[in-house]
Amino acid sequence: MNKSVSYFSLGLLVGILAASAFYALISGGRDSAGSDNRILKLAHGLDTTHPVHMGMERMKERLEELSGGRLAIDIYPSGVLGSEVQCIEQLQSGELAMTKTSTAAMESFIPELGIFGVPYLFDDESHFWEVLEGKIGRELLTIGRDTGLVGLCYYDAGSRNFYSAKKPIRTPEDLKGMKIRVQNSRMAIAMIETLGGSPTPIAFGELYSALAQGVVDGAENNPPSFESSRHYEECKFFTPDAHTRVPDLLMISSAVWDTLDERERSWLQQAADESAVYQRELWAVKTQESLANVQAAGVEIVDCDPRAFQAACAPIMATLQGSLLEPWLERIQKRN
Ligand code: GCU
Repeated sequence: MNKSVSYFSLGLLVGILAASAFYALISGGRDSAGSDNRILKLAHGLDTTHPVHMGMERMKERLEELSGGRLAIDIYPSGVLGSEVQCIEQLQSGELAMTKTSTAAMESFIPELGIFGVPYLFDDESHFWEVLEGKIGRELLTIGRDTGLVGLCYYDAGSRNFYSAKKPIRTPEDLKGMKIRVQNSRMAIAMIETLGGSPTPIAFGELYSALAQGVVDGAENNPPSFESSRHYEECKFFTPDAHTRVPDLLMISSAVWDTLDERERSWLQQAADESAVYQRELWAVKTQESLANVQAAGVEIVDCDPRAFQAACAPIMATLQGSLLEPWLERIQKRN
């Protein structure tokens, strides 16, 4: 055989083998029956009792129905495949097909998403949804495409509130000198600094032991996460100041998205969209349930005036002038 032809065949073979190994790695490959069905791996950090996890379970069911079993999802919850940041990195490298993280964890990959960390950015819940479901929200879903990340939908993560172990946080002044766990987010760090506290970034999965060991004095989150993470066992004071509305974001690796055909993409998008509607309904109910459950477990819902926290956070808006976030801030305020 001609030498160049055999080198060519060898190259082709190596190429085919490498491509199929990559395909198997990112997608989970064929199912055990050896058919052409594909399984997408989805990892996230929340507990299986959490309403965001339940939303993703709904997406999984709908995708299997819509695709007649040709496209399936395996969900790995509770941080078993790593922290939010590690999961995002695995999407970029193609090791993992999908993840759901807070937009705060995305900030170091897609800085524009830092806008959701601005305290008291939205006038109310309807302003928040108008932005997410409108042009701005859609643009932010796809803005990370070149960094290997395609957003599919947002899940409701309500509003974030402080909680503390030893003393209640009634006013912004109470935060002075307190060590507060924050997400891996510059905006979250800026917020705690502005309030006079000491911000400590810790991965969500490591926070329970950090609270138990007194590494931090408190943290902040929405009620379903406060309950399902069992942080309420360590923190008996919950302050409903609603300082931020940071949505959760479902993403797929661009490398995987690009291997899906038109039909597969539309099945997946439809399943994600439907799950987001379902999850939002579930959210309202689960938030009330969580608040009732933690109170029954001895948590005090601290009487506070959110307007005082808003006033104390006000200087943060001015720091955005001239930054990458300024145009997004203006658009959100003008709702366009
Ligand atoms: C919320 C969010 C999670 C995130 C967590 C956190 O619960 O849904 O995705 O990990 O906040 O505070 O880190």
